[in-house]
Amino acid sequence: MILIKGGRLVLPEGIMEADLLIEGEKIAKIGKPLSPKKAQVINASGRLVFPGAIDAHVHFRDPEDTTKEDFSTGSASALAGGVTTVIDMPNYRNPPTTTIAAYNQKRIIAATKARCDYQLRFGGSEKNAEEAARSGAPSLKIFLSETRSELTVSHSAAVQHFATFPAHKPVCVHAEDKERIENRRKRFKLQSEIQDKLSAQLACEFSLREAAKLNRRVHICHLTTGLEIEMCRRYKNATYEITPSHLFLSTADLKRLGQLGRINPPLRDKAEQAALWRNLGKDTIIASDHAPHLITHKLDGAPGFPGVGTIFPLLLDAASKRRIRACDIARWCAENPAGAFYLKNKGRLAEGFDADLVIVNMKKKWKITAENRLSKCGWTPFEGKEIVGKIEKVFLRGKLAFDGEIVLSKPGMGRELL
Ligand code: NCD
Ligand code: ZN
Ligand code: ZN
Ligand code: ZN
Repeated sequence: MILIKGGRLVLPEGIMEADLLIEGEKIAKIGKPLSPKKAQVINASGRLVFPGAIDAHVHFRDPEDTTKEDFSTGSASALAGGVTTVIDMPNYRNPPTTTIAAYNQKRIIAATKARCDYQLRFGGSEKNAEEAARSGAPSLKIFLSETRSELTVSHSAAVQHFATFPAHKPVCVHAEDKERIENRRKRFKLQSEIQDKLSAQLACEFSLREAAKLNRRVHICHLTTGLEIEMCRRYKNATYEITPSHLFLSTADLKRLGQLGRINPPLRDKAEQAALWRNLGKDTIIASDHAPHLITHKLDGAPGFPGVGTIFPLLLDAASKRRIRACDIARWCAENPAGAFYLKNKGRLAEGFDADLVIVNMKKKWKITAENRLSKCGWTPFEGKEIVGKIEKVFLRGKLAFDGEIVLSKPGMGRELL
């Protein structure tokens, strides 16, 4: 038994000063004061205790491209950043996770390498709707625009996936309109002009409309405009995510980032970034879209930023500046993703839930570096950024998984969530 004593527990509804008792893998009791006989006591006084973050959008690059990341390094980066559960994406080439065989291969790889808990997403391709539905996978990802694998689907194949994949399971959409982008590529040079806001909004509108006709669950990935949030709110079976990349960076950062600043969908201007902040609400999910590439690939134009290790720190810093509340982090990074992706007994500090906890000292400052974020890709767009709020301990199902310096959880300790 482990007793987390004297901390301030962060719930979406508010902060609760209480002790928390861990028995085995679970939160056994929350109350004040708790004094069980034989527990190991962790003094959390003056600390915030959060539920472990759930990052519903990561690309850990297994099995295709493990020079940039793999399940072991990706999940180490997650834990060092207070993320105890991730959902991994299927957009790989060799093989793409678009067949049941590839999906099962990935399950074995993840089971041997993962240090944190995880769920795997199936990939939709032009012709695999029936196989995707049969796979039993908890969610599906489709791309309406170009990506580095065969996951790009036409509108008609997207509709087929919407109709065939079990209606209560989320179909997650990378919503950018391929035709519009291809046309604009002939006329514009800048990525933000080619993949403009309307390209995203049109694809978002298409996805929501078609999903609504079928009364099915749909999830819009990494949306980048205020209007898309408003559109998602009009349809009750839709959820959406925003990335810290689009919240904390804008086209104004491209000068500094150069080629490293390329990401899909692209960074938007400051006005649109402000619209995202204004629209954050009770239904928001924040997910990193952790998309690591080596610097050499970035210089060749690869889109994407590492992010699983910075999602929680950036939000803690925003809370320290009173831009958001600590409670919002518990809602956006734990409770809401657990709800959207049916992660049982995850995402909340409550009796009977998994003891996934993050203990934070809001009085400590530190600096983000690629080195302390542990991703194999070796860079971060937030290099050198000063953060208020130090993650001192992370527990995964009752076990100390990160002690503030070192990741203690070993490959294979993560568990698949179905
Ligand atoms: C992602 C990647 O590299 O896999 N890149 C990105 O810019 N977001 C793919 C994706 O999520 O679109
Ligand atoms: Zn995407
Ligand atoms: Zn992605
Ligand atoms: Zn690459």
